Amino acid sequence: MKNVHFDTSSVHASGHNSVKSVSKINPIYQTSAFSFTDLDDLEDYFRGKNDYLYTRMNNPNQNDFANGVAQLEQAPAGVVTSSGMSAILVGILSVAQNGDHIVACDDLYGGTYQLLSDDLKSFGIETTFVSFKNIGEIEENIRPNTKLIYSESVTNPLLRVEDLDALVLLAKKHNLTTMIDNTFATPYVLQPFTKGIDLVVHSATKYLNGHSDVTAGVVVGREDLIAKAQAKMIHLGCNLGPFDAWLASRGLKTLSVRMERHIANATELARQLKDTAGIKTVYYPEFVSETGNSSIVTIELDEQSDVHTFFKSLDWVHIVPTLAGVETTVSYPLGTSHRSLPAEACEKLGINKNVIRISVGIENVDDICSVFKKAAEKALKV
Ligand SMILES: Cc1ncc(COP(=O)(O)O)c(C=O)c1O
Repeated sequence: MKNVHFDTSSVHASGHNSVKSVSKINPIYQTSAFSFTDLDDLEDYFRGKNDYLYTRMNNPNQNDFANGVAQLEQAPAGVVTSSGMSAILVGILSVAQNGDHIVACDDLYGGTYQLLSDDLKSFGIETTFVSFKNIGEIEENIRPNTKLIYSESVTNPLLRVEDLDALVLLAKKHNLTTMIDNTFATPYVLQPFTKGIDLVVHSATKYLNGHSDVTAGVVVGREDLIAKAQAKMIHLGCNLGPFDAWLASRGLKTLSVRMERHIANATELARQLKDTAGIKTVYYPEFVSETGNSSIVTIELDEQSDVHTFFKSLDWVHIVPTLAGVETTVSYPLGTSHRSLPAEACEKLGINKNVIRISVGIENVDDICSVFKKAAEKALKV
């Protein structure tokens, strides 16, 4: 810059994109907005010739991640958001509004349960929670104003596998939209859109990113609904920051190899814990898909085992109120993820004081099995 003072120069001297070479990896577009050379250039954005205007609306890193997940889920479109919760919110708001009704399964993640039972209720959207084990029960609860059937493909924390084909049939019969949280299964195991589910949502905080260093969400599915979900994301301002979107895209590259190892380890851990004294029940789903069952194992200790001793005896495995990192971790559903569920609902579902959710990592499988077997043994001796 010529003919300007030093303090003006210092503002404008750096930060320009002068790179002509193509970078191997998408750069981080850590910018809140995009600049335009003249009014025609600006108008071109509204004519669809320029891609980007303002990061709350759209950004290359957000698009990269949304398109990546949509591709893996075999869905035509997707939108990323600041968290799994905001992805669920914008997905639901693309379907339901004041006066509408939702039928949801009664064994949902606690945060989703709260969103539906409290927050959306206060917006005039009512939800009936029913057991999805019986399709007849879902049908009985459909009302003239029902718009949406909502569930999880593999439920949190007891790993019930949803019958997606039956849900799609029922929804078609009553002209309803279906939305599935596919966080636990991931598209490596299941692709609900290919079965006819309209919207598929993820807490990308979990396996899609996979390294426990990002909070993010994504919803993919029918183009008309995703366009509406994107508008809600923009208006509610729950966009994902460019760096987090970039990190999540990086995580996605290793989804397949991570899931292969997570699932192999979880399958073996579930097998060994079934024969371990002090463990009453091992929840581990079967026949989920050809690529595997689950990377989560949930256990219930015997009544005579001491749950505090179990947690204290886990050596290098830490208590962490999330899942899906490369490290093996444990969580206590009654005390964290399902704390907001009414006590009667937890009791009915079987989420009691002895239930522990294990997020099986990618470490050596013998080390993982040994830690849990020793902890179960110690908990039983107390
Ligand atoms: C199945 C499921 N869906 C959604 C969420 C919410 O995701 P986030 O914490 O990214 O908002 C969670 C969080 O644990 C979850 O387990």
